[in-house]
Amino acid sequence: TESLTVGELAKKLHREPSEIIKKLFMLGVMATINQELDKDSIELIAGEYGVDVEEEVLVDVTDLEAYFTEDEETNLEERPSVVTIMGHVDHGKTTLLDSIRHTKVTAGEAGGITQHIGAYQVEDKGKKITFLDTPGHAAFTTMRARGAKITDITILVVAADDGVMPQTIEAINHAKAAEVPIIVAVNKMDKEAANPDRVMQELTEHGLVPEAWGGDTIFVPISAIKGDGIDELLEMILLVGEVEEYKANPNRNAVGTVIEAQLDKGRGSVATLLVQNGTLKVGDPIVVGNTFGRVRAMVNDLGRRVKTAGPSTPVEITGLNDVPQAGDRFAVLEDEKSARQVGEARAQLALQAQRSEKSRVSLDNLFEHM
Ligand code: GTP
Ligand code: MG
Repeated sequence: TESLTVGELAKKLHREPSEIIKKLFMLGVMATINQELDKDSIELIAGEYGVDVEEEVLVDVTDLEAYFTEDEETNLEERPSVVTIMGHVDHGKTTLLDSIRHTKVTAGEAGGITQHIGAYQVEDKGKKITFLDTPGHAAFTTMRARGAKITDITILVVAADDGVMPQTIEAINHAKAAEVPIIVAVNKMDKEAANPDRVMQELTEHGLVPEAWGGDTIFVPISAIKGDGIDELLEMILLVGEVEEYKANPNRNAVGTVIEAQLDKGRGSVATLLVQNGTLKVGDPIVVGNTFGRVRAMVNDLGRRVKTAGPSTPVEITGLNDVPQAGDRFAVLEDEKSARQVGEARAQLALQAQRSEKSRVSLDNLFEHM
């Protein structure tokens, strides 16, 4: 569209036409609701709301992906690597993270099975690394796919006494699809039955050839339980981070992804977010998935209250009107009004999609029974 009427533009920006007319008036343009606006005026008004007008199409402000814009090179700064730990059930992913964090997360898990993505940050040699734990249980495929999508590096944990298993292969495929580097941690080396050569052999068959065999995959033998090999593993992560040079712009409105979210009796909607670009601050107006709000309080992975969260930081927030879904995108908007408008528009669109899906299904059912 090379031109839009004032009314159409207002709709695209999720604003009242009267507001657009007022804005135009302030800019010295007298307009009515049905008046055609040229490209320059559209750009000018959209710019007032922080919306970019691409070549021909007006960016849809309800599309949260549209807020993941590229930054000027000069605004980019180094950020911590985001590392996702993946692998077959019980191969020792959570134990590895415990060992890295010198804590005891597994002790608190129901049946020692991870049923969500845990997110933590550690510091090694003055550099921060963000870790995401994922479940290895077969039922949690979407969680693993999501984990692979928001990560920079995948740590593939393979138990040396068990070898390559179905979810090991699944994890490789997620990482390959997401085009992220894989570091293999051959775990449980302390066990009598540990057979690292077999693990290397089996992984070679899946395209992960160890450096020792002329390939380019880093293999680190570890014992998560004893803490052996952990320093080497962290070193390899920092090395990959140095080569890849992960960067972000801390001086912009935050955008990122929901790691997990739930309803808490006392605190209401609680969401763990991974800030992928920008800095999230207490008080920020925010759209998260199909809901919105204002960041009321933020807690880091150590349970401490924080006021800001920069790029690659996982943080738990309260202040949303509703519970978003894991994997949802979030974006901080200019003001609370915009956040409300975009959030409500998204909720509306989601409802419509759900309704049409339902009616489509029932129509299909109808034909099935004819
Ligand atoms: P899911 O989250 O359910 O996929 O499992 P996980 O991969 O997180 O495994 P977890 O860390 O819960 O460990 C599973 C079992 O393996 C536990 O009993 C651990 O104590 C044990 N284990 C983990 N690492 C090691 C290790 O290096 N050596 C030995 N001997 N046992 C280990
Ligand atoms: Mg686990």
